[in-house]
Amino acid sequence: MATTIRKLAQMKRDGEKIPMVTAYDYTAARIADAAGIPIILVGDSLGMVVLGYDSTIPVTMDDMVRHTRMVSRGASEALIVADLPFMAYQVDANEAMRNAGRLMQEGGAHTVKMEGGVAIADTVRRIVDAGAPVMGHIGLTPQSVNALGGYRVQGRTRATARRLLDDAVALQDAGAYSVVLECVPSQLAKVITERLTIPTIGIGAGPDCDGQVQVFHDMLGLFSDFLPKHARRYATLSDDITAAFRQYAEDVRAGDFPAESESFTMNEAVLSDLLDG
Ligand code: KIV
Repeated sequence: MATTIRKLAQMKRDGEKIPMVTAYDYTAARIADAAGIPIILVGDSLGMVVLGYDSTIPVTMDDMVRHTRMVSRGASEALIVADLPFMAYQVDANEAMRNAGRLMQEGGAHTVKMEGGVAIADTVRRIVDAGAPVMGHIGLTPQSVNALGGYRVQGRTRATARRLLDDAVALQDAGAYSVVLECVPSQLAKVITERLTIPTIGIGAGPDCDGQVQVFHDMLGLFSDFLPKHARRYATLSDDITAAFRQYAEDVRAGDFPAESESFTMNEAVLSDLLDG
């Protein structure tokens, strides 16, 4: 059954945990969908893991629309959430609405995600009122990495914890249907989760969130050099792919690939005719 935002609200009420993963193309989306993952996030983390930037800041609306379209073609059951990238919603609410519209009309997303709390609550309200469901994202907000002074845990002091709680409530009051909590202490994530009626989705926010999100490349071991503390590796695909490529190169060099069963033939008479001619 297709996931809807009503279903997610019900899952929170029922205490049913919500798994979410990122995906950035058709094949990955098909696999996640077939595995029964209810929410697929086309995260602007694609800036790092797909496009090779060192942050999410250079990611553009065109990047997000293109990858969202790939993902939405691959998934039939999962709810597709697409990130509004840096400066796609901060300039003014009209531009934010147009960009949210692009992710849904051109990309095929069901909902959009935005980083920030109180500061973007009015814009969230406008987008939600226009018919585009919004997932919030607070705590470590990677688009603000330069303002935050690095990728670090947020909400460890009384004042910053209070601010995050206010941000979460402001997003809920503005009509957001869910909120991502990234890199916040588990105890604070628990307080926020209990305070909100909408589901919280954690990444580095402990076990008490209503759901969890993981980045595709981290959980599948596609980046072998670095694993964030909050990620769990469920496969080591980078090692498997490297071994497969090495074996393939060896087979080609040795003349073992392709075999007859992997080749095509033509009628012998046609071949003789060709050679005689
Ligand atoms: O872009 C992304 O992958 C995200 C998740 C880390 C929540 O925003």
